[in-house]
Amino acid sequence: MSEALEIQFASLSAAPTGTLVLLAGAELALAATARGLDERTKGAVSKAARAADFTGKAKTSIEILAPIGIDASRLLVIGAGHPSKELDRLLLGGYVLSQITARKGEAASLIADVPDTGEAGADVLAADLAFGALLRSYAFKKYRTTRKAEDGGEDEPRDGVRRLTVHCAKPDAAAKAFASRKALAQGIFLARDLVNEPANMLGPVEFAERVRDLASAGVEVEVLDEDQLRALKMGALLAVGQGSDRPSRVVVMQWHGAKSKRAKTLAFVGKGVCFDTGGISMKPAGGMEDMKGDMGGAACVVGLMLALAGRKAAVNAVGLVGLVENMPSGKAQRPGDIVTSMSGQTVEVLNTDAEGRLVLADVLWYAQQRFKPRFVIDLATLTGAIIVALGKEHAGLFSNDDRLAGELIAAGEATGEKVWRMPLGKAYDKLIDSKNADMKNIGGRHAGSITAAQFVQRFIKDTPWAHLDVAGTAMDSARNEINPSWASGWGVRLLDRLICDHYEKGDK
Ligand code: BES
Ligand code: MN
Ligand code: ZN
Repeated sequence: MSEALEIQFASLSAAPTGTLVLLAGAELALAATARGLDERTKGAVSKAARAADFTGKAKTSIEILAPIGIDASRLLVIGAGHPSKELDRLLLGGYVLSQITARKGEAASLIADVPDTGEAGADVLAADLAFGALLRSYAFKKYRTTRKAEDGGEDEPRDGVRRLTVHCAKPDAAAKAFASRKALAQGIFLARDLVNEPANMLGPVEFAERVRDLASAGVEVEVLDEDQLRALKMGALLAVGQGSDRPSRVVVMQWHGAKSKRAKTLAFVGKGVCFDTGGISMKPAGGMEDMKGDMGGAACVVGLMLALAGRKAAVNAVGLVGLVENMPSGKAQRPGDIVTSMSGQTVEVLNTDAEGRLVLADVLWYAQQRFKPRFVIDLATLTGAIIVALGKEHAGLFSNDDRLAGELIAAGEATGEKVWRMPLGKAYDKLIDSKNADMKNIGGRHAGSITAAQFVQRFIKDTPWAHLDVAGTAMDSARNEINPSWASGWGVRLLDRLICDHYEKGDK
């Protein structure tokens, strides 16, 4: 996060620097500080608002240049609407940053004072706005050398703004509330970075090395190499990676934050296909570059573990990622091959492009066997069919546990990282029965996301389990005020919220 936006908190009376940003609630409701500034500028704010028909609606703004009576060269008045929900405050913070970055200047001051903030006090409002602004400030520009970073682009901020001071009634409390949000942002940025990174730079080995860095945050990291994976009999995962010159890896990350010794661990498993060519069942050329993001599930798990450690979450959690590259070669697996998974179940590989489920099969089995978790949630860019079904609005949710599913749906509503529950059942499960082995790795033409989930479920014992098909949300997803990049970091906020709402309080 070296290049990221620097955020600090100050009192309402502290002198602002650079662009000064005011918030106006719906129907031009101005909080006390904004009213004071309106007076000091001899009514410039209200006059300009009238002239521009500005009413304080969310995602609208007006700009007053060289206002008299105050020290700022530019006054931005931004519509806040009714930011009574947390997500609205985050989106507002993101919009504020986009308005600042669209203009000149290295520093900006935001007066975090607006009516109608629901339950949120001054500190939470300020921290949420700052968090939204920070999420918006992300850009992946490390490989741009001659095209100046300041150029920006339609979907990315310029590098103009470096410092944002958030002025509020309780700056110390706000800074404290912001600390955990900043840790979460670091996890999200890591997830985004991993997904944005091209596959020539990030294969399974390099990915595993990046995860090792989590040790400095207090996460216990173990990297399993191919000899160890063979010893564990992970035949399904290894079959996917065997066509690549780059060896496969499984990485295990443990965070021990629970106060109680008896707390069962929560397990998160991610599909980490660093590049998915489809293998011998090769994908068409058009758009194949997107398959550098086929490790979006794994990236989310890594980002989550960093966030949990960063905010010292009172929970025990383990993250496991299966890292492979799916390539065609003389060593690659063929359609018709039969592989034996760690569970002992055999799989007839009818399509080498249905590889993610093979990876999940072994890592999920290992996760349950070793950790006996309270639940296991897997995330995977598993099927194009989930994009056909749900577009980019929702990730597909499949679960054997109504309570866990309900908790995820609620966390999705709260964070805006929404999930939509899809069915599972015997009739779908039958579609992956195979004549030659215990199962085949594809169903028929119908219900592709569901047969993929059924396949995954065959590797779940009696653990509460949820599978999130994030093919539509982890990459190239719907951009919004807080999600400016091709790689969204989707799922880190969702799972962090799930944990903090249900699995931390009292170490249940
Ligand atoms: N990684 C893909 C799924 C995918 C597609 C992710 C588009 C993101 C965007 C997965 O490995 C895959 O190729 N799935 C196949 C399954 C089929 C062969 C049964 C698919 O969706 O076509
Ligand atoms: Mn594939
Ligand atoms: Zn894939």
